[in-house]
Amino acid sequence: MRKYISFPKVEGETSRQAHADLPAGTYERELGKEGFFGPATHMYHRHPPTGWTSWEGPLRPRAFDLVKLPAGDDTSPWSAAEILGNAAVKMRYWRLPAGMRDLARNGDGDELLFVHEGEGDLYCDYGHLAITGGDYLMLPRGTMWRIDCTQPMTILMIEATGSSDRLPDKGLVGTHAIFDPAILDTPAIDAAFRDQQAGDRQWKVRVKRRGAVSTVTYPFNPLDAVGWTGDLAPVRLNVKDIRPLMSHRFHLPPSAHTTFLADRFVVCTFTPRPFETDPGAIKVPFFHNNDDYDEVIFYHAGDFFSRDNIHPGMVTFHPCGFTHGPHPKALQSMLTPKKPGTDEYAVMIDARDALDIAPAASGVEFAAYADSWKTKE
Ligand SMILES: [Fe+2]
Repeated sequence: MRKYISFPKVEGETSRQAHADLPAGTYERELGKEGFFGPATHMYHRHPPTGWTSWEGPLRPRAFDLVKLPAGDDTSPWSAAEILGNAAVKMRYWRLPAGMRDLARNGDGDELLFVHEGEGDLYCDYGHLAITGGDYLMLPRGTMWRIDCTQPMTILMIEATGSSDRLPDKGLVGTHAIFDPAILDTPAIDAAFRDQQAGDRQWKVRVKRRGAVSTVTYPFNPLDAVGWTGDLAPVRLNVKDIRPLMSHRFHLPPSAHTTFLADRFVVCTFTPRPFETDPGAIKVPFFHNNDDYDEVIFYHAGDFFSRDNIHPGMVTFHPCGFTHGPHPKALQSMLTPKKPGTDEYAVMIDARDALDIAPAASGVEFAAYADSWKTKE
């Protein structure tokens, strides 16, 4: 258990409630540890903390347009372009125009697939699951699997290198909030699964371990289970089945939207929700230094109300160590939004350790992103 030097303190002009009733003409900034769970201070500034005029050096906020990444002709997930990663998490963007030729198995960690576009069928050790846009598909490390596409698919892959994906503790709001665990689907040994077992042909399994791929060849289809029992299996969760936490009087931090977590990162999902209605409560993400985490957001669908120049299929990267927050257009409606709610779907990956940008991402960078907080003259 970590111990912090703790001294609740009020200095100068402040609000007594974070994210609400700000002193007139001020902009609130949260300086916080442990990804919104640790000690924090709220500071009230005369200027928006993102009002910079220029950025130099490697810390700048980045954005990448993954739509511009070419589809490869290899159907293996291990050929997908790595975007961002470190020793504990790897993010890849995989464009799969047709079904996988071979089976895949990740020996490096649990794999969380987020289906951005398309639809198809997962066949794995445990059976069959239909998959479509907005699905998370958690594949435990070591699972053998393949996907058949009925529509070309684009998938964000999030590998928990050396660890396991888990569900967050729901704490005060209880087990059934955000999504009921009963809504998690597991693969079925159904007619489609039995049909794909028919006929003998040679099957290859592409096994990834320590980043290197080995190939195991069988003279039969190894997805030949007739049954299974246990508490380990892939699970499917669609973003439309998430019922986001919100308060009409308080803008909840991103951590309220935690969907999965592993040892050194968390995955949060932003889904449509009404804006706060209390007149004094801010309605946009507050300015913050999330000083222990690098933040990545993948934009899936909808209108990204706090970001200009961002479209589905883009990724933003905010390395820890600087303040970020809403773009000027959203900031104008901090207290009085122009619509009743947000209709965005986005996946956030917060990493406890510094992330490296892979060459594929650098090649599709939206270089002017750091300037997008500048107020248009
Ligand atoms: Fe953030």
